[in-house]
Amino acid sequence: MQPDYTAILETIFAEVQPLLSQGKVASYIPELSKVSAQHFGMAVHCLDGSTYSIGDGGQKFSLQSVTKLFALALAFAREGDAIWERVGREPSGNPFNSLVQLEYEKGKPRNPFINAGALVMTDILSGRFVQSDIAVLQFARTIAGENSVDFDMAVAQSERMTAHRNYAIAHLMKDFGNLHNPVKAVIDSYCRQCSITMTCAELAKAGSFLANHGTIPWSGLQILDPSSAKRLNALMLTCGTYDAAGDFAYRVGLPAKSGVGGGILALVPGELAVAVWSPGLDATGNSLAGTYALERFTTLTARSIF
Ligand code: DON
Repeated sequence: MQPDYTAILETIFAEVQPLLSQGKVASYIPELSKVSAQHFGMAVHCLDGSTYSIGDGGQKFSLQSVTKLFALALAFAREGDAIWERVGREPSGNPFNSLVQLEYEKGKPRNPFINAGALVMTDILSGRFVQSDIAVLQFARTIAGENSVDFDMAVAQSERMTAHRNYAIAHLMKDFGNLHNPVKAVIDSYCRQCSITMTCAELAKAGSFLANHGTIPWSGLQILDPSSAKRLNALMLTCGTYDAAGDFAYRVGLPAKSGVGGGILALVPGELAVAVWSPGLDATGNSLAGTYALERFTTLTARSIF
């Protein structure tokens, strides 16, 4: 029997209110610090087409690292297993923007979701498309079924001006021969990709192909074969929330991808995609109330992959 998603979202919405002020809005990208920590939105997109939304579920927010999932899906669909020659598939156990491992692992990032790995994805896509950021944007529009999905140029510019750590990562990888395009071009493209905005409702819809074995449920378009979709789900579970991936799996029990804009996309394979947005982050850069909301979601619906 299908859970009463409307009632469950209402319960979660009430429960998270005291948590909203506990997280810290990302400020290392100055434009993101302008967003109020009081926002909370959540949306469910079931594979049968039914949708549910609460709070600010219809308000656009900065996807940031959630877009790394789109870039990976696009690169994996085009290049297949060749991408694993340049990026690993293991959790890093380090913050998403850490440099330390990259030095002693000779410029090969642990996985495609940490910043280093995502920059390699941008580099791979730059060899395939005239503009990798436009390719990821078009891909996001296709999977969301929404042509109005776009970049937020103010956020992209704000990140470009302060991307010193990402420049350092990119230069280190360039030195090891794992970045083929010019550093500045890769960073510019990556910053535009990260600035893509969506609502929770759009994000849940966009993620639904990954809950549906690689095929967009509402259009029938196959993005990935079922085996590849399984592999992406596995990467989300083990690496999608960075050095908190173990705790996230323990508490939530779903494959997920987070971003410092406060968004998290999570999947119940074969059933639904759920997106949550709350800008206040915990110490690992994941949405504090968003993680709690998903923990409550899997408890109240009795749905998880375990
Ligand atoms: O590169 C960065 O630092 C940001 N554009 C994205 C980081 C991010 O979203 C990490 N997620 N929790």
